[in-house]
Amino acid sequence: RNMSVQELEDLIRGIKEKMGKKLFLPGHHYQKDEVLQFADATGDSLKLAQVAAENKEAEHIVFCGVHFMAETADILTTENQKVYLPDMRAGCSMADMANIYQTERAWEFLQVLFGDTIFPLTYVNSTAAIKSFVGANGGATVTSSNAEKMVRWAFSKKDRLLFLPDQHLGRNTAFTIGIGLDEMAVYNPVENILEYDGPLEKVKVILWKGHCSVHENFTVKNVEEVRQTYPDMKIIVHPECRREVVELSDMAGSTNYIIEAIKTASAGSSWAIGTEMNLVNRLIAQHPDKHIISLNPHMCPCLTMNRIDLQHLAWSLESVFSGQEINLIKVDEEIASNAKLALNRMLVQS
Ligand code: 13P
Ligand code: SF4
Repeated sequence: RNMSVQELEDLIRGIKEKMGKKLFLPGHHYQKDEVLQFADATGDSLKLAQVAAENKEAEHIVFCGVHFMAETADILTTENQKVYLPDMRAGCSMADMANIYQTERAWEFLQVLFGDTIFPLTYVNSTAAIKSFVGANGGATVTSSNAEKMVRWAFSKKDRLLFLPDQHLGRNTAFTIGIGLDEMAVYNPVENILEYDGPLEKVKVILWKGHCSVHENFTVKNVEEVRQTYPDMKIIVHPECRREVVELSDMAGSTNYIIEAIKTASAGSSWAIGTEMNLVNRLIAQHPDKHIISLNPHMCPCLTMNRIDLQHLAWSLESVFSGQEINLIKVDEEIASNAKLALNRMLVQS
């Protein structure tokens, strides 16, 4: 159907009004404005997991984010609450870098090398099956806003940890709490090998060889160019960026941390931001009193997040309103129960 923007917006507004509190639309900060304007709650991954866990009244949750976030919402809500994703192709390239078979194989391999000394931590940007595996093995999930706390906690339980699937968040977080780069090994899931030169006893952190294809686009060269062109500019990046980029930046933190830093910055200050394009553009629009640019001038959108657009949202709401269960996200019960253990170990500490 060919509908104008106005017609699509009216359709969405109408359905939201008719369904009231039965319908709930959480939206991640990386979503397009055309979608986010309708969100009942906006947030980073942690906040969206928290609001899903707290919301007991919505029967239908249409998740404006990516697949793993919708799975998390399903795991944390009750039987009667249904979660939908407006476009099933809205996945996450990082989450796709670790599957459950590789994870089981890695765990077996690492047990042979290190015995029962490893605490598993998975970034929420992973499949429900991996969260479940981690939960069943006593581990927990983390998000970028609580990674430091969770890594410290993991070390209070075991001598070393496996951090998956984002090597950069794992490395940056471990470095922040004083673990040396020479104490971090990289597990390569494709070849089932450990990439590490030193003696095994030295390894404290095993980083899964995965990354975010959006945040890897910020480079040392980008930092150098900004430093040269705008010597007074502050550089703030997401910890999914490579270690070298974080090292050369002034500040690093989760989506929420970046938003707060810009909000509380003084008028007239200037900032280069290393995170997803929609969020950077929104911050530029919301803070005309500050000079804000993207750290990478060739903008970095999260293409999968961007699959959720006005058309998909309208279509999804229409199908929910008419009682259909199209694009329902339903995590298998057994997987969900162990995944919930991993998520709750994080939520109680956040
Ligand atoms: P946060 O929402 O935890 O900042 O993570 C960013 C991200 O890449 C979400 O997929
Ligand atoms: Fe995944 Fe990166 Fe997109 Fe986040 S920004 S959903 S980690 S690809």
